[in-house]
Amino acid sequence: MARPITMLGLESSCDDTAAAVVRRDETGAVRVLSNVVIGQTDLHKAFGGVVPEIAARAHAEKIDLCVEKALKEAQLELPEMDAIAVTAGPGLIGGVMSGVMCAKGLSAATGKPLIGVNHLGGHALTPRLTDGLQFPYLMLLVSGGHCQFLIARGPDDFSRIGGTIDDAPGEAFDKTARLLGLVQPGGPAVQKEAALGDPKRFRFPRPMLDRAGCDMSFSGLKTAVLRARNEVMTDDTIRLQDVRDLCSGFQSAVVDVLVEKSRRALTLYLAENPSIPALAVAGGVAANTAIRAGLETVCAEMNVQFTAPPLALCTDNAAMIAYAGLELFEAGYRDDLSLSARPRWPLDTSSAPMLGSGKKGAKA
Ligand code: KG4
Ligand code: ZN
Repeated sequence: MARPITMLGLESSCDDTAAAVVRRDETGAVRVLSNVVIGQTDLHKAFGGVVPEIAARAHAEKIDLCVEKALKEAQLELPEMDAIAVTAGPGLIGGVMSGVMCAKGLSAATGKPLIGVNHLGGHALTPRLTDGLQFPYLMLLVSGGHCQFLIARGPDDFSRIGGTIDDAPGEAFDKTARLLGLVQPGGPAVQKEAALGDPKRFRFPRPMLDRAGCDMSFSGLKTAVLRARNEVMTDDTIRLQDVRDLCSGFQSAVVDVLVEKSRRALTLYLAENPSIPALAVAGGVAANTAIRAGLETVCAEMNVQFTAPPLALCTDNAAMIAYAGLELFEAGYRDDLSLSARPRWPLDTSSAPMLGSGKKGAKA
């Protein structure tokens, strides 16, 4: 039997300060012993989006407290950790630096190894933490800053076969919410109103479905929502039913694009003849029930196993960072105090970089 491994994880790449403890026991089973997230929604509310300077200061103020809470909830002390994993990018650089500095301090004080984790890798490995999914699998990573199809073959082995050429779906949800006077983060608010609306009243475009391949575009959708909103607005006010129908029309456009592009990505992936055909979804937008339902249907049609992590592990959290750290640790990865924070860090370095910047700074 293997020796148990216990990992502390830290996450601070966007607007959630988080720490968690994850353990693989002697039987090989993995358990999340604690998962603490301190969100910053209230701090950014007045600005209609994440303000990097405010985020960085809040991370620096709260990260120690998060670590303390995570250890307390796990009923463990720092010396009982095998290593310290920390998000080292991609993300808003001030926030990533807060986490990296804190982790370096803990590592220097305890002599525990340090492991820099790619935030996207954390999301992409989550279905292994939650469902024990075996490599390889196809991953659709959909969040506020990212949208890509990855073939996951190992904890540090990902190939990108498609992605957004502009906004991520989460950004489109957030911008749509802003246009319609809904609260941030926009995804849950838009989903709630969409459930009460007519998806057919406004026919929004399904960008890039006419183009081959798995690349996507979401920036035109918010412009379409803006135009439709302006047409139904009178005296600067909009009826609640109009908001609901706009949300519903917007969400169904996003679902259609993600579903059709997933079908194409699966076709490409299945051509590799994987032993267990599987699609997993991760990232904050994976919390969307209409998107999950659409993906589940494609997978059922194509005889592919579908995995979607529980909601708390879809949005940003440190359990996924601790878990990714654990896999990397087991594979022999170690960093030292020269670890640096990276605003841009693609998971697949062999593919051309994605363009533009999103809520979390530069696209990876
Ligand atoms: O993964 P995440 O917590 O942070 C990033 O790495 O970006 O994702 C946050 C994004 C936000 O844009 C939020 O609006 C979106 O996920 N989101 C949703 C839902 N819940 C969160 N989007 C659509 N439907 C949801 N239910
Ligand atoms: Zn994320």
